[in-house]
Amino acid sequence: MSNPFGPLTNADLLPHGPLRRIGTHALLRETVDSTNLLLLAQAADLPDGTIASAEFQTAGRGRLGRRWVAPRGASLLLSVLLHEAEPATLTSTITLMTAVAACEAIEQLTDCTPRLRWPNDVIIGRRKVGGVLAESRAIPGRRAVIAGIGLNCLQHAAHFPAELAGRATSLDLESTEPVHRGPLAARLLECLDAWVANYDRYATEIRRAWHARCADFGARLTLVHDGQQFEGTALDIADNADLILQLDQGGRRHFAATTTTRIP
Ligand code: BTN
Repeated sequence: MSNPFGPLTNADLLPHGPLRRIGTHALLRETVDSTNLLLLAQAADLPDGTIASAEFQTAGRGRLGRRWVAPRGASLLLSVLLHEAEPATLTSTITLMTAVAACEAIEQLTDCTPRLRWPNDVIIGRRKVGGVLAESRAIPGRRAVIAGIGLNCLQHAAHFPAELAGRATSLDLESTEPVHRGPLAARLLECLDAWVANYDRYATEIRRAWHARCADFGARLTLVHDGQQFEGTALDIADNADLILQLDQGGRRHFAATTTTRIP
């Protein structure tokens, strides 16, 4: 086994070689602007299933144009490229599949109990331990869908910026056992591959697996959409992964992740 505190290697990510769809090719970087950007930029020239992993990102991307910051070597910073025929129906469920796969890996390899917060947060207790950012672009004859995940593994409290104090955590902070990034990365990719390889047959199961781990349902949420604030109770997610909110003012409304902000 490679050094548990050293950079992730190909053998860490894919100990048994390529998976069914994921792992045809791997780009491992010490430093990169963003693993999502790396795959977006080269999407047309890289094979379906390519993985990008980095120890450090200088321009890590979060949802809604936010930054994703992590100290060198402390996280899993992973992206997976999938080539889809248009219309790429996978784009609506890839965030759910990636978040569920992260939970499955954490559940199987640590003593933590992760949950999900719509649309893309992996949490432990009330604190965020990981996030998913799915992006896509058209390439000749197809759509390149990129699923990126950042998972805080080895951070300690002082590693988080002041504005995240009390709102972010890591597996090492939450677990009573040592956390090893290599096996976690490999299991996450295996779990994601199992969903992605047959996603068109698993639509119901994906939503069910996400739903079972979601901390939001029945909870009161405040959302901002188009500059307007909405309050209500989270009911469910729709087939396209929109959140369905029972509004305090009456009626139900669907909110899309790409245009909605949560007030913590
Ligand atoms: C969020 O919670 O806002 C999503 C964060 C996603 C971060 C990951 S880290 C690997 C991949 N590369 C990026 O630039 N972003 C995603």
